[in-house]
Amino acid sequence: MNRTLSSQPFLAALRGLTPAHRPIWLMRQAGRYLPEYQALRSKHSFIEICKTPEVSCEATLQPIRRFGFDAAILFNDILVPLEPLGASFEFTEEGPQLEKPIRRDNQVTSLRRADPRESLAFVGDAIGMIKQELGTTPLIGFAGAPFTLASYLVEGGSSRDYRQIKHLLYSQPELLTRLLDFLADYVSDYLRMQIEAGVDAVQLFDSWAGILSHADYECFVLPGIQRIFAGLADTGVPRILFLKGSASYLDSLKSCGADALSLDWSVDLADTSRQLGDMRVQGNLDPLALFGPPAEIQRRARAICRAGDEARGHVFNLGHGILPGTPLQGVEALVETVHAYRIGNGIELEKDA
Ligand code: CP3
Repeated sequence: MNRTLSSQPFLAALRGLTPAHRPIWLMRQAGRYLPEYQALRSKHSFIEICKTPEVSCEATLQPIRRFGFDAAILFNDILVPLEPLGASFEFTEEGPQLEKPIRRDNQVTSLRRADPRESLAFVGDAIGMIKQELGTTPLIGFAGAPFTLASYLVEGGSSRDYRQIKHLLYSQPELLTRLLDFLADYVSDYLRMQIEAGVDAVQLFDSWAGILSHADYECFVLPGIQRIFAGLADTGVPRILFLKGSASYLDSLKSCGADALSLDWSVDLADTSRQLGDMRVQGNLDPLALFGPPAEIQRRARAICRAGDEARGHVFNLGHGILPGTPLQGVEALVETVHAYRIGNGIELEKDA
């Protein structure tokens, strides 16, 4: 089998072509549910793994070796690239924490305009190494989307009620817009740098933007997403947007400039695919479903594959990141089911037939 990279199922589905089988990868596929990742973590801190190309490369490859996913995703974090701006997060047991949350005018203006090519050279180096090791498996690069990054900067970490970022939006909307614009420029540079280093697709993670009203989403978030994706159009690299809670904004998202939308489990994948028309879809199993019995995982995975037949292209994924403690047999059952599914008619291939 000497397939070229562009005919790989993941890239074929994103281009709207018929892939040889339904492609699958999982958000956060490298991480704590894997014993081999835990072994790596016993030797290195999380931030060390992100910043050391050899170790990031190893973490990226672990889930590919174990499960044969159809795409690898660069091992890093959406918050690591914020350090060169002057906002360095500490990754603690309680989650990421920023010593001084960014809430005042002068804190926004004092964010440094860093060049990711220089300050994040370790990311480019990791990409080069991973590409060498991966062979024909495509590599996904990524960044946090401006609103999610701004939320972390303003809240200073994860948040239960998004109080600070919403306070900023309602009391100083022009300051929030300035911060979002700044981040959109930075994210654009960072993704371009990853593409130049060799990634085959890019995904923007907007985990927090789903908390906004429809009007605020259109006013504050959508323009930045459109600008980032339009700026990458000349690269020809497929662009994916993950937005947790996208159901409320589907009409606007059609014009966000992404080639594919990564959906959470709250939406019906078939209906949504029809609504999205030419846009490809990714998703959308609840990560907690993987804790259930294999037969139930199979049933739900097949239902999602059938719904995905309605789409111009479907990449199987979870509706959010895989959770620590996820049983490995659940992931095995999922990958096997998705790979056995026959595109278009819902019949499964006989194994080894
Ligand atoms: O998908 C992958 O396997 C690639 C690596 C990746 C990580 N984080 C590794 C990670 C990616 C793409 C992310 C994205 C990310 N990071 C998001 C967007 C997606 C989402 O889940 O909503 C967000 C919001 C973050 C911020 C973040 N990083 C949090 C809140 C935490 C702590 C809580 C948690 O879930 O662990 C992290 C740490 C983190 N990022 C870990 C990993 C493997 C755990 C670190 C450890 O080993 O201790």
